[in-house]
Amino acid sequence: MLEILLIDDEPSIRLSVGDALGAAGHRVTLASDGREGLRLATHRAFDVVVTDVRLPGADGLTIFREVKRLGSTTDVILITAFGAVDDAVTAMKEGAHDYLTKPFDVAELVLRIERIADRRRIQRELDQARAELAARDAGALVVGQSPPMVRLLDRIETMAQSDAAVLITGESGTGKELVARALHEHGPRRGRPFVAVNCAAFPETLLEAELFGHERGAFTGAVRKRDGRFRAADGGTLFLDEIAEIPLPAQAKLLRVLQDGAFEPLGTNTSVRVDVRLVCATHRNLKEHIATARFREDLYYRVNVLDLHIPALRERRGDLPLLAQHFLRRYVKGDGPVPPIAPRAWAALSQYPFPGNVRELEHALEHAFVLSRGAEIDIQHLPADIAGSAGELAALAPPRKPLCDRCRWRSRNSSASTCCARSSSPKASAPRPPRCSASLARTCGRS
Ligand SMILES: Nc1ncnc2c1ncn2[C@@H]1O[C@H](COP(=O)(O)OP(=O)(O)OP(=O)(O)O)[C@@H](O)[C@H]1O
Ligand SMILES: [Mg+2]
Repeated sequence: MLEILLIDDEPSIRLSVGDALGAAGHRVTLASDGREGLRLATHRAFDVVVTDVRLPGADGLTIFREVKRLGSTTDVILITAFGAVDDAVTAMKEGAHDYLTKPFDVAELVLRIERIADRRRIQRELDQARAELAARDAGALVVGQSPPMVRLLDRIETMAQSDAAVLITGESGTGKELVARALHEHGPRRGRPFVAVNCAAFPETLLEAELFGHERGAFTGAVRKRDGRFRAADGGTLFLDEIAEIPLPAQAKLLRVLQDGAFEPLGTNTSVRVDVRLVCATHRNLKEHIATARFREDLYYRVNVLDLHIPALRERRGDLPLLAQHFLRRYVKGDGPVPPIAPRAWAALSQYPFPGNVRELEHALEHAFVLSRGAEIDIQHLPADIAGSAGELAALAPPRKPLCDRCRWRSRNSSASTCCARSSSPKASAPRPPRCSASLARTCGRS
């Protein structure tokens, strides 16, 4: 079904074409003059505009050019009087889709519109497939080469084949959601929905409605019926992030879905059955939550049939180079080179503890990439926390050898901070530095 705007000042054409397109299943809007047609064509998103060329108010060519100027994807078909095809040919050269000469066969117009419908459907399917592929690649790409990550990747591959519930644990930013996506994408449910819910993002009263859906009027503010995330994930995977934050009443309901595969949406007595693989994640210690009665023990064993723990980034520093490459490559446009990281910036990154784990590294590199404008990343391009900790390191480093007189003078009078490391000599107009004493000259490497 296409949204079509038909602009013609002849009532008989509006009637016959409008009826034929309507009968072919399209929704047709009619305009009887150029001005009204132009207003509609530029204010609403039509798939196709069929317009007469000669019109009172604004001609068909103007309407076509305005539609194109707005950058819309609307296809325009022009209808022109016999012997006056010049305008239509001009429009075709400028990108109009097609033209017909009066008198024309309405069935022929319907056929041409059908071809547009087919082309648009194929385009939509291609776009969808491309978007899914992109999401899949992004979602499934868990980068890591350190021994703990190699083991983890192996476990993901195995667990992806099962339907059993998985509990992913790990500090914030270690990649729990990414791993949940990888479990989905590497298993038989790929191609079906992957639905992620951050349980901490909903107030207690709304989480149940979000998960299980509700009838219209089930609670104050429920103005429309909603299906809920369990139904949205039917056939696929439901990822419940921050599962420790689920309030106890919703925990009871969740337990029932895991036991029976069924639940009742809020405001109904009807049981809904779904086929959903559950993957949960938390950065908290659920055993502690059980001990303090904040988490149901029976639910814990249901969600934790299989477990995956993602180590903190500081426990797998061997992944830093690969992750850095991975993120920097993402920021580089096209096939351009990935900017190198200067040794002192690399030293700062390597010794920083990354309490925010991979997410913090990702943000740090984006920060550095922006500040370095895509060129070599140096210490001053890193976020202050990371560059600052390198400063602390420097403070812990063994005391430097004393500077000779000449170099002390230089470090006071220029930005040079290393002894005799610079080849540039002071400007001619500047006072001459004192000479080194023989013994100190050796300590700073000058002969
Ligand atoms: N191994 C990895 N390879 C590539 N990217 C990763 C990896 N681990 C994490 N990331 C990236 O780091 C960011 C944080 O990951 P994610 O959101 O999965 O972490 P999380 O553990 O769910 O965090 P939180 O506990 O805060 O919800 C994301 O952009 C993700 O793509
Ligand atoms: Mg998360």
